[in-house]
Amino acid sequence: MKKELPVIETPKQKTKEKDYSKYFQTTYQPPSLKDAKRRGKEKVQFHKDFSIPDDLNGLGKGKKFMIRTYGCQMNEHDTEVMAGLLVDMGFESTNETEEADIILLNTCAIRENAENKVFGEIGHLKPLKLEKPGLILGVCGCMSQEESVVNKILQKHQHIDLIFGTHNIHRLPHLIKNAIFGKEMVIEVWSKEGDIVENLPRVRKGNIKGWVNIMYGCDKFCTYCIVPYTRGKERSRHPEDIIEEVRHLARNGYKEITLLGQNVNAYGKDLDGMEYGLGNLMDEIRKIDIPRVRFTTSHPRDFDDHLIEVLAKGGNLVEHIHLPVQHGSSDVLKLMARKYTREHYLELVDKIKKQIPNAVFTTDIIVGFPNETEEQFEETLSLVKEVEYDMAFTFIYSPRDGTPAAKMEDNVPMEVKKERLHRLNDVMNEIFLKKNLELKGEIVEVLVEGESRKNPDVLTGHTRTNKVVHFHGAKSLIGELVNVQITDPKTWSMGGELVETAEVSR
Ligand code: SAH
Ligand code: SF4
Ligand code: F3S
Repeated sequence: MKKELPVIETPKQKTKEKDYSKYFQTTYQPPSLKDAKRRGKEKVQFHKDFSIPDDLNGLGKGKKFMIRTYGCQMNEHDTEVMAGLLVDMGFESTNETEEADIILLNTCAIRENAENKVFGEIGHLKPLKLEKPGLILGVCGCMSQEESVVNKILQKHQHIDLIFGTHNIHRLPHLIKNAIFGKEMVIEVWSKEGDIVENLPRVRKGNIKGWVNIMYGCDKFCTYCIVPYTRGKERSRHPEDIIEEVRHLARNGYKEITLLGQNVNAYGKDLDGMEYGLGNLMDEIRKIDIPRVRFTTSHPRDFDDHLIEVLAKGGNLVEHIHLPVQHGSSDVLKLMARKYTREHYLELVDKIKKQIPNAVFTTDIIVGFPNETEEQFEETLSLVKEVEYDMAFTFIYSPRDGTPAAKMEDNVPMEVKKERLHRLNDVMNEIFLKKNLELKGEIVEVLVEGESRKNPDVLTGHTRTNKVVHFHGAKSLIGELVNVQITDPKTWSMGGELVETAEVSR
């Protein structure tokens, strides 16, 4: 089905006009990563009176939607908001692609392979769209913020009906209406972040663990990373709104919350007239009756003493710290603009270990940054051996258009990068196994989250330190905190046996 002119809705960006008349009979304003880079001084407005207009309320009656989520927890959080908006409009959720009247792909732009996956999926959905012309196919999330992605969809994937970005999710009801009633592809991507809209409806995935977003955006501009462009400047939610959300989850029986942000340690820096940071926030949340509180992601640079002091109080604040290091060489860290050195990072880990002796560290690491030498790579190996992480996400560097690192020349062949990734993973796996073996015979607290994917007779859950534990038990335990003795530690998970004792050794 050939589309007519795209509808560009209330674009907020001041983009230089480009001539896309080759594809359309109009001048089209694409999103712009360049505009997204600017950090304006304008104040963030907070809106607390969101509601869906009456005329959009019943629009989804008798219709179903499905949202595919790629990428990080922030996208999972956004998917819950989009699901909330659609359910409030009368749509019902489905897991069956064939049943859906709306399919949204909530995308991730962090690495090239993440984007390729989405383009693959867009292609797979084409026959369904041809079969079912009334189906609304939408692309949202971080990829939509990229001009190149929007243009590729316009040129090659005309079966897409709707493109919107990360800053205008609250506009979904209007956009859906326009996609349903209009004949054209609807595109609304704001390059610049908008205001903070509170009180958006939400359909949470599950009722045991909940995401609580505490801030939006990132101002760190690590040279390899696209997130500051796709998510805009750092904007913190008001503490009282966050605390109210946590209380609400506690009242509703949730057992664990994760405070979310790209760089949660920068929380509060943008809040006017208050000296209030993540430490202060955690110190208040600590008093709320919810068994476990996590936070992610921490940037080592902003990890301050007050936060360590508060975390050391323990209780519902778990002793797991995800502290992405990215690289073991200070020279590479400098090129990455991480703004800390290897030594500073190791000192921070030491300081935390001193004050929280049972703290467990996990991390993210990039190998194959442009021109990474063998010696520099070996510094990463020596760092992971020194810290002894309990778990890690490891990636091959992927150039992202529009970021400074993408312009760097690179003399490291892909085979070398792949080989380094293997070597790193081998070293790390050995450490993970060693750390898990140390837990053999110990009794740990496990939050039971459900049946194991591989074997429905087995229950699965996580320890406070975020390790996966499998054990046999009654289904009625799902949603409960139980004690499990570790009997079978493996590299990425541990087997155990349910025990009656109230004593936990770890
Ligand atoms: N805000 C978080 C991480 C967000 S992205 C933080 O700063 O820690 C998650 C991880 O993806 C990063 O920690 C990094 O290791 C990896 N990553 C980001 N950009 C990448 C790129 N261009 N290539 C490869 N890995 C990347
Ligand atoms: Fe990306 Fe760095 Fe921001 Fe993390 S802190 S989101 S890696 S720019
Ligand atoms: Fe991906 Fe965007 Fe998250 S790029 S990692 S979905 S913030």
